[in-house]
Amino acid sequence: MTVTIVGSQLGDEGKGGVVDIFGDAVDVVARYQGGDNAGHTVVHEGEEYKLSLVPSGAVRGKTGVLGNGCVVNPSTLFEEIDALQERGLDPDVRVARRAHVIFPYHRVLDGIEEEAKSEDGEEVGTTGRGIGPTYEDKAGRRGIRVGDLVSEDVLREKLEYVVPQKRALAEDVFGVETGEAFDIDALHEEYREYAERLREEEMLVDAGEFLAERLEAGEEVMFEGAQGTLIDIDHGNYPYVTSSNPTAGGASTGTGLGPGVVGGDDGEIVGIVKAYLTRVGSGPLPTELAGVEGDTPDYTPGEGREEELATYIRDEGGEYGTVTGRPRRVGWLDLAMLRHSTRANGFTGVVINHLDVLAGLDEVKIGRAYELDGEELDTIPATTERWAACEPVFETFDGWEAFDSEVVAEEGYEALPAEAKAYVEYVEDELGVPAYALGVGPGREETVVRTNPFE
Ligand code: GDP
Ligand code: IMO
Ligand code: MG
Repeated sequence: MTVTIVGSQLGDEGKGGVVDIFGDAVDVVARYQGGDNAGHTVVHEGEEYKLSLVPSGAVRGKTGVLGNGCVVNPSTLFEEIDALQERGLDPDVRVARRAHVIFPYHRVLDGIEEEAKSEDGEEVGTTGRGIGPTYEDKAGRRGIRVGDLVSEDVLREKLEYVVPQKRALAEDVFGVETGEAFDIDALHEEYREYAERLREEEMLVDAGEFLAERLEAGEEVMFEGAQGTLIDIDHGNYPYVTSSNPTAGGASTGTGLGPGVVGGDDGEIVGIVKAYLTRVGSGPLPTELAGVEGDTPDYTPGEGREEELATYIRDEGGEYGTVTGRPRRVGWLDLAMLRHSTRANGFTGVVINHLDVLAGLDEVKIGRAYELDGEELDTIPATTERWAACEPVFETFDGWEAFDSEVVAEEGYEALPAEAKAYVEYVEDELGVPAYALGVGPGREETVVRTNPFE
């Protein structure tokens, strides 16, 4: 069977940790979209691992696959593999020949475009990893795929076509000087070496075939989503999105397996929910508590609605970007967002993380709906401008006292404070989806598992 792990909100919901928790029975963990813009944390035997490209299961000796829907920066990939090896692990990572390759000029162009947009305050706040420009080239049919790297001639031919265009774009359109990142010979040499290593270490696969064979052999496969539904290029708040499909459909197109494998009788789709909201980068956030300079649109210092509370939650939850270190914007849980997400993904279950972070507050809120033009909306309007104009309608809950996470995890759901259970059950009822597990701390043993989707 397969289980797909999807971010239900804006990324950083704790997907890496959930992949790890449900991953015991798993043989293969496949990423299906995104690249080294992701930052997934796994805490294993007291050690913290932060992975941006290598699938989280690799920490636990599972085979990791980067599917065709991913964009791969080989330099990051090998850095991560080497770093894991230095820590005594032996990660088994395979890369789809159909995945697209991130080149240094993509990263440079990512920065140039953000810089240009920032003149009008329109920047997305990307991670600067070249994700958008690489997917642009993929859609523009001028991208270079992992399988192209292994042929010296094919690689040269493709670089000779695309690099002069990129140079012209940087120099003539944006007026920026180009350097090594746009040098065909240097790129050819660097990427030929990566290809050599990919080949020598037998990392190249046809993802769909590889995964189908493993499933056929009775193995369990997990699809690890990166980012989240509200930054999905189709279902998120365009243009403040990433350039791929984190939503569950992406697990099919991004691996080469049919939709029935992901969402059929043998497939579970689990939405990862943070008990409040965080956002890195620009775009609307109707239930935001207080702004963050540089990311919150129209941010004015001192005008945060609940600055102190936001800072408290940010610090308790360690809400600083895994990749960029930026402070994350913080808001209350938003059900309109989660209803949208539940439909777009077809969640069969959810995991609600970070319940411990809210412990100790007198009251906690959930955005139950929005008000827009005198009407109540229970899901997200399709245009970002309308979404930005939504005012949250809150439901207030009694807070819960701090609890011993390990004891609660050990004793099970009933040991959670009654107020926390009321919060969880309200969300389950509103979404019509059961909570398979509850996160009560960052550690592996700090999770209350009610249902393991593999069992
Ligand atoms: P991902 O990108 O969705 O994998 O999430 P990140 O790793 O970027 O961010 C989640 C952070 O929250 C990590 O530091 C996790 O260790 C931590 N975390 C996950 N679940 C919980 C939880 O239930 N409680 C607390 N306090 N931290 C958690
Ligand atoms: P994980 O997998 C949170 C955000 C960026 C920016 C937008 C586009 O750890 O949940 P990009 O570099 O992808 O072109 O940036 O998407 N973003 C994330 N936010 N978690 C992530 O990944 C993210 N990956 C990208 O901040 O707003
Ligand atoms: Mg993250």
